[in-house]
Amino acid sequence: MNLYKYVSNAINEKLGTKVNLEVPRNRDFGDFSTNAAMVMAKSAGKNPRELASEIAPKLNELDFVAETSVAGPGFINIKLKDEFIWDAVTQPQNPKSETKQTIDLDYGAYNVAKSLHIGHLRTSIVGDTFNRVAKLLGHKTFSWNHIGDWGKPMALVIAWIEKLHPELPYFQDDFNPNTPVDFEINPSELNTYYPSASALAKQDPDFQAHAQEIKAKFQDGHAGYFALYEKFLKISLEMMNETVKRLNILPFDYDLGERNAAKYLPDVEKILREKNLIEESDGAEVIVVKQESDNKPMPPYMWTDSRGADTYDSTDLAAVYCRKLTDNPDKIIYFTDLRQGLHFEQLFRAAQLSGIYDYSNLEHIGYGTINGNDGKPFKTRDGNAAGLDDIIDAVNDAVKTRVSESGKTLDDDTINAIALAAVKFNDLMHDVRSDYIFDPASVTSFEGRTGPYILYTAVRLNSVLKRATFESDATYMPMTSDERNLMIGILDFERTVLTAFENRATDMIANYAYDLCQLINTFYHNCPILRDDVPAETRAGRLHIVQRAHETLTKTIDLMGLKIPNEM
Ligand code: ARG
Repeated sequence: MNLYKYVSNAINEKLGTKVNLEVPRNRDFGDFSTNAAMVMAKSAGKNPRELASEIAPKLNELDFVAETSVAGPGFINIKLKDEFIWDAVTQPQNPKSETKQTIDLDYGAYNVAKSLHIGHLRTSIVGDTFNRVAKLLGHKTFSWNHIGDWGKPMALVIAWIEKLHPELPYFQDDFNPNTPVDFEINPSELNTYYPSASALAKQDPDFQAHAQEIKAKFQDGHAGYFALYEKFLKISLEMMNETVKRLNILPFDYDLGERNAAKYLPDVEKILREKNLIEESDGAEVIVVKQESDNKPMPPYMWTDSRGADTYDSTDLAAVYCRKLTDNPDKIIYFTDLRQGLHFEQLFRAAQLSGIYDYSNLEHIGYGTINGNDGKPFKTRDGNAAGLDDIIDAVNDAVKTRVSESGKTLDDDTINAIALAAVKFNDLMHDVRSDYIFDPASVTSFEGRTGPYILYTAVRLNSVLKRATFESDATYMPMTSDERNLMIGILDFERTVLTAFENRATDMIANYAYDLCQLINTFYHNCPILRDDVPAETRAGRLHIVQRAHETLTKTIDLMGLKIPNEM
């Protein structure tokens, strides 16, 4: 049950007005508090403390309230009855949104023939957790891996392969797609082609011009280029799948990106032309998205570049159109680097202008940068910009060192699960929009606000439940403050998930997990369960609490896509 909502609704009804209910950090004086008296004092013409003393007894009449007290300038603290808490915990924790939406989520968005960079870590982790949260709340979601598979990088890779193997038939304009070609791309070399070609293009204008030519022909359907492209596309898709598995994120509903969107360009162009939205600008075609009220520069949205080729902009607008036809979502939410903020503002305006999609139903969640201890973007030990795999490898090594120092032996699956938890939890616990410092040693600590600490707590609960025999049914028992606090913590799950969804704040899930683990470990420390001298009734009661805590923690861990090992 959603304890917060239950209590808040009951109070609103009792007082006949909507009041503000707070969850105090320190719950010694009350489980909830309200500033209702302070808000209502003015219109009632009373002093807030006086009004609070009048309201408090009314709240005492609510059947779940144990006591109220007035504090400070007129706060009312509310303590709940223990029996009520016990009953509430017994009910399932099953948060649901009141209105169900269909939501397209655009995250991951990996690029063909390019290694995944560090930013892909954040879009994948945050996007996946948001997807899981939305699904749990009953929304219908579709995840789109909007692959970068259509632009200049494709042309550069083709140009590079042509440079390495000019004898291949793919480069001839009359290439017949049925021609068998005895040629395989080495997967471990593929991701070096784009950086090499891109470096060469910067120095060599002829190579650059040739790549441009390839891009135009490729987008026009050149059979040879296309056959070659399909070869490396296949390898890239396999690599992307590996990443999805390695990160333990849900498989994408669609692995369809720019190339797929490009199919919708003619339809979108027709709409734009009918509305006279395409203008010519320095040889390119643009959509002007500037508004009178803008006080920041708002450049036009590029429909085609000066060579007439499709752009990141045009395919993104076509992708909105495609999603509307495919899923007809209520909302589309994009998870990318903050630095793409301007692009999305332009896209959303273009979507609104064209009537393809409402501006207000498009959202961009921009994430900050992952920095090293020096506050600059995280680099590998040899000083190169770190890729996604570098991060996971670094954390794997840190876990191995830590485990061997502690004298334990853990199998590889367990090490991987701990490393994954370390990376993902550390990413999720920060506000998406902010930068954070990534330090492999500290994120793998088994203590403090870390993924391993969360897993450790789950493993501990599993082990208690495995060793326990359930002799008698649990019935209400008088509770200690540690038991009570844990139950209140469990009852905060539904509110947390709903608020995390509404505020697009996946960090709330991670930080809730940490708070819950703190409560679990304090309880575990102070309340013996399986020890011989514990009375049977107390044991049954505590096991009941352990079960509910375990259920709630497991759900929270699932939302983050972490794997709980058997031992740690
Ligand atoms: N592929 C792009 C990148 O790696 C991100 C694409 C984000 N999604 C979109 N619809 N533009 O930066």
